[in-house]
Amino acid sequence: MLAESAKNLVPKFFDETGTTYDGVVSYGTLGKDRYWKSKILEQISDGSSFLDLACGTGILTREIAEKFPSGKIVGIDITKSYLDVAKENSNSFDNISFILDDAEKFKLDSKFDYITGSYLPKYCDPEILVKNCVGHLKPGGKIILHDFTYPKNPAVRGLWNFFLTFLRLVGCFIPSWKDALIGLPKLIRRTKWLDSYSDVMKKSGLKVSSQYLTYGASAILIGTK
Ligand SMILES: C[S@@+](CC[C@H](N)C(=O)[O-])C[C@H]1O[C@@H](n2cnc3c(N)ncnc32)[C@H](O)[C@@H]1O
Repeated sequence: MLAESAKNLVPKFFDETGTTYDGVVSYGTLGKDRYWKSKILEQISDGSSFLDLACGTGILTREIAEKFPSGKIVGIDITKSYLDVAKENSNSFDNISFILDDAEKFKLDSKFDYITGSYLPKYCDPEILVKNCVGHLKPGGKIILHDFTYPKNPAVRGLWNFFLTFLRLVGCFIPSWKDALIGLPKLIRRTKWLDSYSDVMKKSGLKVSSQYLTYGASAILIGTK
């Protein structure tokens, strides 16, 4: 129910925002997006095949490609305008390919050492996404999911709410971002993605670990096959 309605928000949030996303994610996270992506990269120690789900404009996809120049990296996203930006910004990389598809439904012949998904979990159904990922993972491979979490500490929560209220006000003046900046805080408050994906990964036989980042403002979940 939750995942189904969250998925309906994807076109509202992203259809019109691809060309301005990189700036908004940087300012909107007070620069933490870079740090969070560096923590995802830290978890990727070796390997030759990488799948970046919900790759968006390809920020993380290119960082993986830079770290593993001889690896093959595939980026998948459901929003064409984001993939258009990703392709344009990745012209100089010959080890990245992009596919327009749904992370819950794609079917590829290849299997991967690592499957990443940053800011994806809250939009998907954990059972469906994890099942599809496990089917595309090599033995010993890892699924690394990252997304916002609602901080548990009351003081941090207060600051978080204050900042998100400010972003909502900003959203009133930027028509293409209005839906996302107003809708995202509500979605982050209600999502239980970390617990639900962790449970599903364990049930699927994966070894699971997780790590909160920046006082619980986001988290990384790792499942090893
Ligand atoms: C906030 S952006 C994040 C982009 C990128 N992962 C990053 O960290 O910069 C969220 C992306 O998730 C994509 N998305 C949401 N649901 C998806 C799904 N079911 N399959 C593929 N992409 C999805 C959206 O199209 C959007 O590009």
